[in-house]
Amino acid sequence: MIELARPLPEAARRLAHVVVVGNQKGGAGKSTVAMHLTIALMRMGRPTGCLDIDIRQRTLTRYMENRGAWVARRGAGHGGLILPQPQMLDIHASEARQLDIAEIEDEAAFAVALRRLCDTCAFIVVDAPGGDTHLSRVAHAHADTLITPLNDSFLDFDLLGSVDPQAPDRVRPSVYSEMVWEARKRKAQAMRRPIDWVVMRNRTAITRFEGKNKQAVGGALSTLSTRIGFRLAPGLSERVVFRELFLQGLTLLDLDIGGEGEMRMSHVAARQELRDLFIALKLPGLEGEALRF
Ligand SMILES: Nc1ncnc2c1ncn2[C@@H]1O[C@H](COP(=O)(O)OP(=O)(O)O)[C@@H](O)[C@H]1O
Ligand SMILES: [Mg+2]
Repeated sequence: MIELARPLPEAARRLAHVVVVGNQKGGAGKSTVAMHLTIALMRMGRPTGCLDIDIRQRTLTRYMENRGAWVARRGAGHGGLILPQPQMLDIHASEARQLDIAEIEDEAAFAVALRRLCDTCAFIVVDAPGGDTHLSRVAHAHADTLITPLNDSFLDFDLLGSVDPQAPDRVRPSVYSEMVWEARKRKAQAMRRPIDWVVMRNRTAITRFEGKNKQAVGGALSTLSTRIGFRLAPGLSERVVFRELFLQGLTLLDLDIGGEGEMRMSHVAARQELRDLFIALKLPGLEGEALRF
C-alpha cells in the first residue's frame, strides 16, 4: 500500500518566516513596502530573501536591479552606510497551455524557490501581484505574515469589505478577504502556523483636507478587522521620496541622517513611520530588539 505523504512537522520543513505583501490591487504600495521591509530586516542583521511573483510588472525585480546598478556605479557604501543586497530568486510563469498543468508547474516553481531561500534566509519577503493569479493564491497559503497595504479611500477599502454608504458601520467581507480566508484554511489543513494578517494604510494624505475621509475609513476598517480577522498597523503617508528612491534602487533606510545632507525632515518622519510599522508587525525573534535603522 502506498503511504500518502504527510506534512512534515513545522521545524523539519522550514525555519524561514514567510512574509507575503499582497492585495488584489495595483498601486497600493506592495512593492514599496516589500522593498523597505526587506532592507529593514537586512539592517536588523537577518538574512532575507525576496520573491517577486508579480510576473507581469516585476516592480520588485526592477527595484532590486536599480539597486544593483547603483552599487555597480557608486560602490556598496552610500552616505556612510553599506547597502545590503538581499538574495532574490526569479520565478518564471509556466508556459503550459493547459490550465491545470500550468497551475501545478507554478506551484512547484514557488515551492522550489521557497526551499532554496530557506537554506540561507531567516525571512522571505514575497511581493504579490495586483490581480488574482494562481501563484498569488499559492503564496498566500504559505504566508506566516500577510501585509496588506491599502490606499486611503473607500475605493480600496472595497477590496476587503463592502461598505453600506448609508451606514458605514455595516460591512461585508469581500473578494480579497475571501481569498485570504481560503489561504488560511489551506494552511490549517497543512497543519502550519496560522496567518497573521496585518492591514496598513498607505499614502495617507498629510493635509487636513483629507482628514474626514481618513477618519471614516479608519472607523470602517476597525469594524471590519474584528469581523474578518486582521490587525491594523500604522501606515505610511504619501511622500514624493518613495517614487524618487525607486529609480535609484534605494530605500529610506539607505539614507544617512546627518550624512550627505540627503535626509530631510520629511524623510526622518517617514522613517519613523517605517519603524512604527516594523514594530507593529511583531515578526518572530525580533520582539524587543533595538531597531538598527
Ligand atoms: N507612501 C507613498 N508615498 C508616495 N508614493 C508612494 C507611496 N507608496 C508607494 N508609492 C508609489 O506608488 C506607486 C505604486 O507603488 P507600488 O509599490 O509599485 O504599488 P503596488 O506594488 O501595490 O502596485 C509607485 O510609483 C510608488 O513609488
Ligand atoms: Mg507591485
